[in-house]
Order: sequence, then C-alpha cells, then structure tokens
Amino acid sequence: MKLTGPFKQLLTMDHLPDKGHISDTQLEIIPDGGIVHRDGKIMATGNFNKLKELYTMASVEWLEGDYVGLPGMIDVHTHICWAGSRANDYAMRLSGKSYLEIAAMGGGIWSTVEKTREASVEELSEIIEQRANKLLRKGITTIEVKSGYGLSINQELKILNAIDYAGKRSMADLIPTCLAAHMVPKDFNGTEEEYLQLIIDKLLPEVMNRKLASRVDIFVEKTAFSIHAAKSYLLKAKEMGFDVVIHGDQFSNGAVALANETNALSIDHMEAATDDEISLLAKGNVIPVVLPGSSLGLGEPFAPARKLLDAGTSLVIASDWNPGSAPMGRLLIEASLIGAFEKLTMSEVWAAITCRAAKALNKSDRGIIKEGYLADIIAFKTSDYKDILYLQGQMKPGMVWKYGQIVT
Ligand code: NIG
Ligand code: FE
Repeated sequence: MKLTGPFKQLLTMDHLPDKGHISDTQLEIIPDGGIVHRDGKIMATGNFNKLKELYTMASVEWLEGDYVGLPGMIDVHTHICWAGSRANDYAMRLSGKSYLEIAAMGGGIWSTVEKTREASVEELSEIIEQRANKLLRKGITTIEVKSGYGLSINQELKILNAIDYAGKRSMADLIPTCLAAHMVPKDFNGTEEEYLQLIIDKLLPEVMNRKLASRVDIFVEKTAFSIHAAKSYLLKAKEMGFDVVIHGDQFSNGAVALANETNALSIDHMEAATDDEISLLAKGNVIPVVLPGSSLGLGEPFAPARKLLDAGTSLVIASDWNPGSAPMGRLLIEASLIGAFEKLTMSEVWAAITCRAAKALNKSDRGIIKEGYLADIIAFKTSDYKDILYLQGQMKPGMVWKYGQIVT
C-alpha cells in the first residue's frame, strides 16, 4: 500500500456531468491532496496529512515541490500502427491539393496500406510500442489503436496481432479497434457490400475468437463507405457482440442518423456536422469525438465543439494520430488549441480527455481519481492547474503513474 503526495492541487474529475456544459467551479480540487493506492487501484483520496494518520501501514511516496495531480489522459482515437510517411501528401496539400484529391492521385490511405503491408508483425509491434511509450511519458495512460492499414483478412490480423503484442509489452493500456472498413481496398475485385460481407464472414469471427478487438469502426465518406452499406455492416458487427464506432461527418454530413440508428458508442470527426445533426445527436447517447489534430493536419476548421456541448451532448477530444490527416499526435497540445478556438472551459477540455473519454471506450474503471478506480495518475510541476492549458499543452507531466507504478 502506498500514499502518494502531497499534491498542491488534486483534480479528481469526479462528480462532473456526462453531457453538456461544465464550468470550472464544478471541478473538485483537493488542496494538499493525497492518494492511497494498492495493486494498481485507488483506495482513498483526501487531505494528505489526514490520510497519513489514517493509513499508517502505507509507505509514503513523497512529492517534493508543488505538483498538480490529475487522472491519466485517455486518447480514444489513434491509428498508430502504420509504416512509412506521408510527407509528400502534406507538401501537396500545402501547394493547394485537397485530401480527397491526393487520395485519388495515388497518395492517401492506400499508399500507407502498401507500406504497412510490407512490414512484418515484429516491425509493426515495435513501431506501436515506441509510439505508445512516447505517449505514456506525456501522460496518456490509455490509448485506443485502430487497425485499418492492412485491408485484407491476413493483413488486418497481422496488424491486430501487432497491436496485441505491443499492448503486452508497453505499460500503457492499448485498446484495439478493427478498422478493416477504412476504404474498399484497391486490389479487391467487388463492391463495397461484398468487401464488408467478407469482413463479417471471415475476419470478425477470428477477431472475436482470438479476442483481438471488441470494437469495430468504419469510415463513412464518399471515398470510403456509403451510409447504406455501413448500416448493415455495423448492425451485423453489433449482433456479433462488438461495440461500434464511426468515422463520420469529416468532409460530408449524414452520418449522425446512422450513429443513432446503430447505437454507436461514438461518432468521430464531426467537422461537417450540420446544426440539425447536432440537435439529433443531443437526443441520443452517441458520444461525439472531435479530432483537432486532423483539422490542424489538413488546415481545415475545427469540429463545432462548443455547439455540441451547448446542444447538450458529451464531448471527447482525441488525437487521431495517423500519417495522413493528423501527423502531430500530441493530445494535450491539440486539446488546448481546440479549447482556445472553440471557447471550451478548462474543465470541459480536461473532461474530454479523462472522465468523458473513458465513457467513449466503455470503461468505468478510469478517468477519475476515486476509490476503486485505476491508479493512473499524472502530476504537473506547478501549483495551479490553469497553467497547463494556459501554456497550451507544452508542459509535460513531471510524473506519470500507470497502475500505481511510476513510468520512467
Ligand atoms: O481519421 N478519415 C479517415 N481516416 C483517418 C485518416 C487516415 C489516413 O489519412 O491515413 C482519419 O483522419
Ligand atoms: Fe481517424
């Protein structure tokens, strides 16, 4: 048993609403706080000195100097299993070509598929582990990782296996998602429906049996899958027991109704969402995940995060780290930037990468510093939590704990 502290301020992120506006006065801030934890789980939180008197058996892990403590950050949307680079795409965009035009010219997702197919499972798992460890040191203790650059049964299995191996080696928790429906592969001879049926028949049962992922994602867009084809795919995946999520409303709208109808856990992107769709989303329970890194990578406006919260939806922010649209992969910087442009309160930004993010992964054991939750904790070397977003995410945590263990 360990008592960690004292934290000048301990932001628990407890007692916040799942949806809608949050004001900074709603934040629970424990001054001179401490956390008692054992076997990776939090046993108690409160005033450090009082905890020290109560838990005399606990060994004390002293923090010298002023620290602000928060739950470990959760990145609910990444594509960190890729090989190669798309710097050429980026240069072409800077000279005026659009993301969809570049894809049509031979760049885009397919060019990364070709590179990723050439890499071995060992090479890929090494790449994922390195990227995950980099994120962990920056305070991201849970990382969702999508497949989607394999686009054949064997290649998607190779990628999901690589994610699985990397997850076993990295201290970060990796949450895999099957994105075999990223686009219809160029070497597939058939319609989008036929490709999706192949995935349903041949890939998803294997993924389920081998426990390689419990989530299924699809890219709904003109260059990827239609709403009609996506609907029957997602319903079948749900029937098989998967949670489903959607890449939707990135360039063209229309995916919100699909998300509601298929009871998706989240709809990710939302840059092109209309006001009517925002109201529709607020009527259901689908969580919008906005991806500022993709707006920054493409030079496009941010998703309407403020409007979403004002309409009464939840709001989660994720990095979308991928070689094409979102090469930055720095969640805290991206979250602080969309916060500045969309006028999100500091508490809304923090909730979007901690407690509300946990819900988008269907996890009820993390994202809050509270008894019974995982001891995933980050500490920034400052006495005022406001400094962290004020410095626009450049400050990295001085200390990170995953399952109660210090990450070095
Ligand atoms: O979330 N939109 C589709 N998928 C990714 C981009 C993938 C790529 O360009 O390689 C995204 O932006
Ligand atoms: Fe994405």
